[in-house]
Amino acid sequence: MKKIRVFGEQKLSGTISVSGSKNSAVALVPASLLSDEIVEIDNVPNISDIEALIEILTYLGAKVERNGTSMKIDSTNIKNRVIPEEISKKLRASYYFMGALLGKYKKVEMYFPGGCSIGERPINLHLKGFEALGAKVTEEGNKYTVEAEELKGTNIYLDIASVGATINLMLASALATGTTVIRNAAKEPHIVNVATFLNQMGASITGAGTSEIRINGVKKLSGCFHEVVPDYIETGTYLIAGALCGENLKIEGAIPDHLEALISKLREMGVPFEVGKDYITVSKGESYKAVSIKTAVYPGFPTDLQQPFMSLLTQCEGISKVEENIFENRFMHIPYLNQMGAFITTTDKTAIIKGRTNLSGKEVEATDLRAGAALILAALCAKGETTITKVEHVLRGYEGIIEKLQNVGAKIELEEIE
Ligand code: EPU
Repeated sequence: MKKIRVFGEQKLSGTISVSGSKNSAVALVPASLLSDEIVEIDNVPNISDIEALIEILTYLGAKVERNGTSMKIDSTNIKNRVIPEEISKKLRASYYFMGALLGKYKKVEMYFPGGCSIGERPINLHLKGFEALGAKVTEEGNKYTVEAEELKGTNIYLDIASVGATINLMLASALATGTTVIRNAAKEPHIVNVATFLNQMGASITGAGTSEIRINGVKKLSGCFHEVVPDYIETGTYLIAGALCGENLKIEGAIPDHLEALISKLREMGVPFEVGKDYITVSKGESYKAVSIKTAVYPGFPTDLQQPFMSLLTQCEGISKVEENIFENRFMHIPYLNQMGAFITTTDKTAIIKGRTNLSGKEVEATDLRAGAALILAALCAKGETTITKVEHVLRGYEGIIEKLQNVGAKIELEEIE
C-alpha cells in the first residue's frame, strides 16, 4: 500500500510536460491485437492501467516490448482463451478486449471489468451493439461469452454517447462484413485517436469526432506506427494546480483546443493564463469569482475534471455549483475536502460550494482516481501536511505525478505503508 504526503502552500513554477492520454492508450493497446502484424505505439504513459493491459495481452500470447514510452506489440501468436476474472477486473479498459477479440476471432470469453467505483457503469450498450452486429451474448454471473458466426455491418444507435461502447463497437466492426454506422457516438479526442490508429492499420473509418461514425469493414489489418494523443485530463489537472499555486507554471506538450470547456471557466473565474499553440502558462490570481459547471459529454465540461475542479472552486469568492451528469457516484472526494476546511453540501447530483475557505492539511483517502487528484490539488494549497491513502488509484492514471509536481516546486512524497 502507498500513501502520498503533501506539504502545502509551495509556489509551483517551471514546466510540466503532458504525457500520453490514459483513456486513449488503454484502448489502443487492446486494439493492437486486431492487426496481423507488429504494431508500434509511442507516447504510451507509464501507469499501472497499462501494466494491467500488458498482463492480459501477454496472458493471451502476445509479445510486448517496452522502451521508454514506446511499445511494440506482436499479436501474431495470440491464443484466444478465457480472460480470468482476476485480470478482467483489474481495470475498466479490459472491456476493450471484448470488441478486439470478438472482431478478430469472432469469440471472446471474459468477466465484468473493474475500474473506479464512480457509479453502476453497466456495459449493456456494448453488448447490445455486439448483438446488432450478429453476435450472441451469454451471461453467467459475472462472465460473458460473446460469439458470432459472422459479424455483419449494421446501424447502431447508442442511447447514451458512451466512450467505452463507441470504441468497443469500432473495434468489433473494423473487420466485419459491410458497413456499420454508429449514431449518437461519443466525440472525445480519444475516439478520434483510436479511429486514426485503426485507419493506419488499414481500417476504413470516417466521422470519428462527430456523433456519426461510419466503419466500412475490411478483410485484414496490418502493422503501423502510432502516437498516443496528449492527455487533456492530465493537462487540465495541472492547469488547476497552477490556478491554485502557480507562478508562471507552464504545461507543455498539450492540445489546448481539447480543453475549451475548462479554459472558458478559468477565464470566467479570473485565472491569469496564456494559451500557446501547444502549451498553457498559468499563475495564481489575486481572487477568483465563483462559477458553475455541468458535466457533459465532449466537448462539454469533462466529468474526469469535475472532482479536481471542485478543489479550485473552494478558493472562489461566493457560491459555486457543480452538476455531475455522467456518473451517479462521483462526489466521494467531498467529505474529505470538507474535513480540510471546505464548505460543500450536496443534493442528488448537485454540489454547492461556499467559498472562499482556507484549507488545512488532514489525513484523507483517495476513493478513486480523480478524487485522489482532487485531494492532491487541495493539499497543494492547504496549510500544513496532508496525507492521502489509497493512492494506488492515482498511480493508475497519472504518469509520474509525484516527480512532475516535485520538479516544479511541490513538497510531495510517495511512501510505502505496511
Ligand atoms: N453507460 C451505460 N451503459 C453502457 C455504457 C455506459 O449506461 O453500456 C453509462 C455509464 O454508466 C455512465 C455513462 O453511460 O453513466 C457514460 O459512460 P461511458 O461509457 O462514456 O464511460 P466509460 O467508458 O465507463 C470512460 C473513461 C472514464 C470517463 C468516461 C467518460 C476509460 C477506461 N474510462 O469510461 O474515465 O470518465 O469514459 O468520459 O476510458 C477516468 O479516467 O477517471 C475515468 C473514469
